Amino acid sequence: MKVAIACDHGGFELKQEILGLLKDMNVEFEDFGSYDSCAVDYPDYAFKVSESVAAGQFDRGILICGTGIGISIAANKVKGIRCALVHDLFSAKATREHNDSNVLAMGGRVIGPGLAREIVSVWLTTEFMGAHHTARIEKISKYENA
Ligand code: RB5
Repeated sequence: MKVAIACDHGGFELKQEILGLLKDMNVEFEDFGSYDSCAVDYPDYAFKVSESVAAGQFDRGILICGTGIGISIAANKVKGIRCALVHDLFSAKATREHNDSNVLAMGGRVIGPGLAREIVSVWLTTEFMGAHHTARIEKISKYENA
Protein backbone atom coordinates (compact mmCIF):
# COMPACT_ATOMS: atom_id res chain seq x y z
CA MET A 1 0.00 0.00 0.00
CA LYS A 2 1.35 3.42 -1.04
CA VAL A 3 -0.16 6.53 0.52
CA ALA A 4 0.03 10.15 -0.64
CA ILE A 5 -0.46 12.69 2.16
CA ALA A 6 -0.75 16.48 2.29
CA CYS A 7 -2.13 19.31 4.39
CA ASP A 8 -2.52 23.07 4.56
CA HIS A 9 -1.45 25.21 7.54
CA GLY A 10 -4.59 24.24 9.47
CA GLY A 11 -3.62 20.59 9.22
CA PHE A 12 0.14 20.79 9.54
CA GLU A 13 0.47 19.62 13.16
CA LEU A 14 -1.92 16.73 12.68
CA LYS A 15 -0.17 15.69 9.47
CA GLN A 16 3.13 15.43 11.39
CA GLU A 17 1.37 13.10 13.83
CA ILE A 18 -0.02 10.97 11.00
CA LEU A 19 3.40 10.73 9.34
CA GLY A 20 4.60 9.16 12.58
CA LEU A 21 1.72 6.70 12.51
CA LEU A 22 2.44 5.70 8.91
CA LYS A 23 6.05 5.03 9.89
CA ASP A 24 4.88 2.98 12.90
CA MET A 25 2.58 0.99 10.59
CA ASN A 26 5.35 0.47 8.01
CA VAL A 27 3.15 2.06 5.36
CA GLU A 28 5.01 3.48 2.36
CA PHE A 29 4.11 7.15 1.84
CA GLU A 30 5.03 10.38 0.11
CA ASP A 31 4.53 13.72 1.86
CA PHE A 32 3.33 16.33 -0.65
CA GLY A 33 3.54 19.18 1.88
CA SER A 34 2.84 21.65 3.24
CA TYR A 35 6.10 21.39 5.15
CA ASP A 36 5.49 24.15 7.72
CA SER A 37 2.57 26.09 9.14
CA CYS A 38 2.80 29.12 6.79
CA ALA A 39 -0.54 29.97 5.18
CA VAL A 40 -1.18 28.12 1.90
CA ASP A 41 -4.22 27.31 -0.22
CA TYR A 42 -5.74 23.91 0.54
CA PRO A 43 -6.98 23.22 -3.05
CA ASP A 44 -3.35 23.06 -4.27
CA TYR A 45 -2.61 20.22 -1.83
CA ALA A 46 -5.92 18.47 -2.42
CA PHE A 47 -5.25 18.37 -6.17
CA LYS A 48 -1.63 17.12 -5.82
CA VAL A 49 -2.69 14.13 -3.72
CA SER A 50 -5.95 13.41 -5.54
CA GLU A 51 -4.41 13.51 -9.01
CA SER A 52 -1.64 11.15 -7.95
CA VAL A 53 -4.18 8.70 -6.50
CA ALA A 54 -6.46 8.99 -9.54
CA ALA A 55 -3.44 8.33 -11.81
CA GLY A 56 -2.68 5.11 -9.91
CA GLN A 57 0.66 6.32 -8.52
CA PHE A 58 -0.67 5.83 -4.98
CA ASP A 59 -3.33 3.49 -3.59
CA ARG A 60 -4.77 5.98 -1.10
CA GLY A 61 -4.56 9.63 -0.11
CA ILE A 62 -4.82 11.44 3.21
CA LEU A 63 -5.63 15.18 3.33
CA ILE A 64 -5.77 17.46 6.34
CA CYS A 65 -6.86 21.10 6.57
CA GLY A 66 -8.36 23.04 9.48
CA THR A 67 -11.84 21.57 9.19
CA GLY A 68 -11.25 18.90 6.55
CA ILE A 69 -14.14 20.46 4.63
CA GLY A 70 -12.39 22.62 2.03
CA ILE A 71 -9.77 20.02 1.24
CA SER A 72 -12.40 17.27 0.86
CA ILE A 73 -14.57 19.43 -1.42
CA ALA A 74 -11.54 20.09 -3.65
CA ALA A 75 -10.47 16.42 -3.66
CA ASN A 76 -13.90 15.30 -4.78
CA LYS A 77 -13.62 17.47 -7.91
CA VAL A 78 -10.91 15.14 -9.24
CA LYS A 79 -12.30 12.33 -11.41
CA GLY A 80 -12.05 8.96 -9.76
CA ILE A 81 -11.67 10.34 -6.24
CA ARG A 82 -14.04 9.32 -3.49
CA CYS A 83 -12.90 11.48 -0.59
CA ALA A 84 -14.52 10.94 2.80
CA LEU A 85 -14.39 13.57 5.54
CA VAL A 86 -14.16 11.53 8.73
CA HIS A 87 -14.02 12.46 12.40
CA ASP A 88 -15.27 9.24 14.02
CA LEU A 89 -14.37 5.57 13.95
CA PHE A 90 -17.76 4.31 12.75
CA SER A 91 -17.51 6.46 9.59
CA ALA A 92 -13.85 5.50 9.04
CA LYS A 93 -14.88 1.84 8.79
CA ALA A 94 -18.15 2.42 6.95
CA THR A 95 -16.68 4.62 4.25
CA ARG A 96 -14.17 1.93 3.34
CA GLU A 97 -16.74 -0.87 3.45
CA HIS A 98 -19.52 0.96 1.60
CA ASN A 99 -17.93 3.76 -0.44
CA ASP A 100 -14.49 2.30 -1.19
CA SER A 101 -13.17 5.78 -0.36
CA ASN A 102 -9.69 6.28 -1.75
CA VAL A 103 -8.94 9.57 0.00
CA LEU A 104 -9.47 10.38 3.68
CA ALA A 105 -9.91 13.97 4.86
CA MET A 106 -9.71 15.19 8.46
CA GLY A 107 -9.74 18.54 10.23
CA GLY A 108 -6.70 19.35 12.34
CA ARG A 109 -8.75 21.91 14.27
CA VAL A 110 -11.58 19.43 14.85
CA ILE A 111 -10.07 16.27 16.31
CA GLY A 112 -7.10 15.41 18.47
CA PRO A 113 -4.13 13.27 17.51
CA GLY A 114 -5.26 10.13 19.34
CA LEU A 115 -8.59 9.84 17.56
CA ALA A 116 -7.03 10.84 14.23
CA ARG A 117 -4.45 8.05 14.53
CA GLU A 118 -7.20 5.51 15.22
CA ILE A 119 -9.25 6.79 12.27
CA VAL A 120 -6.30 6.48 9.89
CA SER A 121 -5.44 3.03 11.19
CA VAL A 122 -9.03 1.75 10.75
CA TRP A 123 -9.41 3.43 7.36
CA LEU A 124 -6.17 1.95 6.00
CA THR A 125 -6.96 -1.58 7.16
CA THR A 126 -10.66 -1.92 6.29
CA GLU A 127 -11.59 -3.59 3.00
CA PHE A 128 -14.37 -2.57 0.61
CA MET A 129 -17.35 -4.94 0.97
CA GLY A 130 -18.23 -4.94 -2.72
CA ALA A 131 -21.58 -6.68 -3.42
CA HIS A 132 -24.48 -4.20 -3.80
CA HIS A 133 -22.18 -1.28 -2.92
CA THR A 134 -20.31 -1.72 -6.21
CA ALA A 135 -23.29 -0.73 -8.33
CA ARG A 136 -23.75 2.45 -6.29
CA ILE A 137 -20.14 3.48 -6.80
CA GLU A 138 -20.47 2.70 -10.50
CA LYS A 139 -23.42 5.13 -10.66
CA ILE A 140 -21.13 7.87 -9.31
CA SER A 141 -18.39 7.02 -11.87
CA LYS A 142 -20.92 6.98 -14.68
CA TYR A 143 -22.22 10.40 -13.63
CA GLU A 144 -18.76 11.97 -13.42
CA ASN A 145 -17.71 10.52 -16.78
CA ALA A 146 -20.90 11.52 -18.64
C1 RB5 B 1 -7.55 27.79 6.68
O1 RB5 B 1 -7.63 28.87 7.55
C2 RB5 B 1 -8.85 27.01 6.64
O2 RB5 B 1 -9.82 27.75 5.98
C3 RB5 B 1 -8.66 25.68 5.99
O3 RB5 B 1 -7.69 24.96 6.67
C4 RB5 B 1 -9.87 24.77 5.95
O4 RB5 B 1 -10.46 24.65 7.22
C5 RB5 B 1 -10.86 25.03 4.89
O5 RB5 B 1 -11.87 24.34 4.75
